Amino acid sequence: MTVPRIQLNDGHSIPQLGFGVFKVDPAETERIVSDALEVGYRHLDTARIYGNEEGVGRAVAASGIPREQLYVTTKLWNDDQGTQSVHDAFDASLERLGLDYVDLYLIHWPSPARDRYVETWHAFEELRDSGRVRSIGVSNFLVPHLERLLGESDVVPAVDQIELHPAHQQPATTAFAEEHGIAIEAWGPLGQGKYPLFELPEVADAAAAHGRSPAQVVIRWHLQRGHIVFPKSSTRARMAENFDVFDFELGEAEMQAITALEREGRVSSHPDEVN
Ligand SMILES: NC(=O)c1ccc[n+]([C@@H]2O[C@H](COP(=O)([O-])OP(=O)(O)OC[C@H]3O[C@@H](n4cnc5c(N)ncnc54)[C@H](OP(=O)(O)O)[C@@H]3O)[C@@H](O)[C@H]2O)c1
Repeated sequence: MTVPRIQLNDGHSIPQLGFGVFKVDPAETERIVSDALEVGYRHLDTARIYGNEEGVGRAVAASGIPREQLYVTTKLWNDDQGTQSVHDAFDASLERLGLDYVDLYLIHWPSPARDRYVETWHAFEELRDSGRVRSIGVSNFLVPHLERLLGESDVVPAVDQIELHPAHQQPATTAFAEEHGIAIEAWGPLGQGKYPLFELPEVADAAAAHGRSPAQVVIRWHLQRGHIVFPKSSTRARMAENFDVFDFELGEAEMQAITALEREGRVSSHPDEVN
């Protein structure tokens, strides 16, 4: 199965569908990520705060898959913002992952109360220049945070990873990102199981029409909207289901009906409140 790639603004590209490991138990991460790699995923999304970078690294090492065929993202936690702490935190993440570079490093949250994300971004530029990070980006940045970053740096983030699913589409942030060449990564693409997306008739009807599951319909909606997604599942059958989305297509009316589900249905915290 060939996963399409999304071209980033820095010359690199990223597999559009990957596997996320938020809330994957560190003790089980190696097995779960090994399953995901066997299913066919080649893009993995972790973070220091998930506590499972080591398990991700062990699964990558055990897989024997050549490094250049894998795409690995990790993220800087809020209390590591600041110049020296970025370098220290990055070194520690790389060591836990057992890698000599990561494909994408993200500022996990803007954490505006700290007022250090611009300084942090300049340290990210240094990491990119060092070659140990291929692409740098941000996460949970809304328009005011992006505007400030763009005003104080010449380096535009390659991606912004934000909560995004049919009930919470963040139109202002996605429009700003598109205008500035920032790719959108949709976290919580299935509503984290907290928003009852799968029962909505617009999703359920499309699933029935295509003989697919509601989760596959929602993932397909993301892909056709151009988002980068990495649904998480601890269950191998669901990993396979979520990966098996490249042999059907939602029609225009189905896409529109799902897009009309926007409800400002945020299931997690507001970015200004995570400090
Ligand atoms: N940057 C950030 O601040 C941030 C925040 C949150 C997440 N993320 C990233 O985004 C990734 C994905 O988001 P997420 O993990 O929060 O939520 P998600 O992928 O939207 O949803 C995961 C939930 O959906 C269930 N699920 C998965 N596939 C399913 C299927 N086919 N049918 C029914 N249920 C299914 C999973 O249960 P089972 O595991 O039991 O299958 C789990 O409870 C994360 O893993 C992480 O890498 C980033």
